[in-house]
Amino acid sequence: MFDMTPDRAEALDGEARRILRLNDRGGYTVPTEGLYPYQWNWDSAFAALGFAAFDLDRAWTELETLMAGQWENGMLPHIQFHKADPGYFPGADVWGTEDAVGKGPGRVASSGISQPPVVASFALSTYRRDEAAGLERLRALFPRLMGLHRWFITHRAESGAVAITHPWEAGRDNAPDWDGAMAAFEPEGVAPYTRRDTGHVDPRMRPTKSDYDRYIWLVQFGRDRRWDDAAIAAESPFRVADPTMTFTLMRASRDMVEIARALGEPTQEIEGWIARLEAGAETLWNAGTACYDSRDLRSGQLTGCVSNASFLSWWGGLRKGQPIDTLRRVLAAASYTVPSFDPAHPKFESLRYWRGPVWGIMNMMISTGLKEAGLIDEADRIRRDTAGLISDKGFAEYFDPQDGTPAGGGTFTWTAAIWLGWASPNAKEL
Ligand code: GLC
Repeated sequence: MFDMTPDRAEALDGEARRILRLNDRGGYTVPTEGLYPYQWNWDSAFAALGFAAFDLDRAWTELETLMAGQWENGMLPHIQFHKADPGYFPGADVWGTEDAVGKGPGRVASSGISQPPVVASFALSTYRRDEAAGLERLRALFPRLMGLHRWFITHRAESGAVAITHPWEAGRDNAPDWDGAMAAFEPEGVAPYTRRDTGHVDPRMRPTKSDYDRYIWLVQFGRDRRWDDAAIAAESPFRVADPTMTFTLMRASRDMVEIARALGEPTQEIEGWIARLEAGAETLWNAGTACYDSRDLRSGQLTGCVSNASFLSWWGGLRKGQPIDTLRRVLAAASYTVPSFDPAHPKFESLRYWRGPVWGIMNMMISTGLKEAGLIDEADRIRRDTAGLISDKGFAEYFDPQDGTPAGGGTFTWTAAIWLGWASPNAKEL
């Protein structure tokens, strides 16, 4: 890609800007029309990275709208249902968060779970593009960002690493990491439902029915407890410490130190979080697979999964105990990197969502971390592969790592965003 002509790069930049505008619903973007018609948490934070390349004011607005949906207890929901859309399931009525413990009055309708906390990282990168213009907007967001990180540390970091209470929280919905924990309970009594996702895209690219029954069962489980964090932590059969959450929170907390310094705020509390997360990351190290893994907190077992989240440790800022040999093996095994699951594993499926396909946002974080750690060859390979996929196959949701087939939803916000903010030859360094 680095030999891409300036005209070609310009055309792709223009297409990416067009997609962000297309998915703009006025103050927030949807991930893509049809399949995902609401505001998703980490998608929105990535959208800000894209907007920041050409409309800084709009980038700040995206972050502000996102953080305005935060619950009183600090939790930032994974979906905000600004306007009802019958084409999506499970909608606000299924989540039933109106009287959730910790939500507070007057909040937008939302889900009851969160997503990887990348928002502070893109608040910092947005600010860095124009510090004078961004200072007051950053200052206004700061207490909310502190509240979000505090919520994670208080309610999800009992093992040091950050746990999820639903596969959707990790942002890696059907990753094999969750298979053991999902098989350990029966989705008994799950109310009848109709999926909508498989009406928008090919069912072969989506989670299975067995997974879906459990997703809905876990939603009902949380709703029955009014989304009370303590009750869910004590009683849910599903609780898995996850590298996506752990490393994005670690990175975002390092970025919060920078933000606090820029604002003249104290950093001690934030530094305490970082130390705790670093110790927690050790509990995810799998010596057998030589990389970071997920740990089922109910069984106590590591899951044995080599995923793209395994390689977020550099993004998290870790510089020791690194999975570089495992990464090199996985890179060598795929035509397009980074596959979301180890191609050498029998559970690898090249088109099924988080069980094989390449995701641009993960590539952006992995490659940026590698570059910061001085692992330039691997960082460049991942960026080149991502740019090549987008250039040849379009702004798809994700891609087959073997032949590059574009999959899932098309005209995808976060793919356009990481193009503008990172993969494009015209992108400015973060
Ligand atoms: C899927 C993805 C998740 C994303 C959402 C919207 O659920 O797994 O990471 O946030 O779609 O794009």
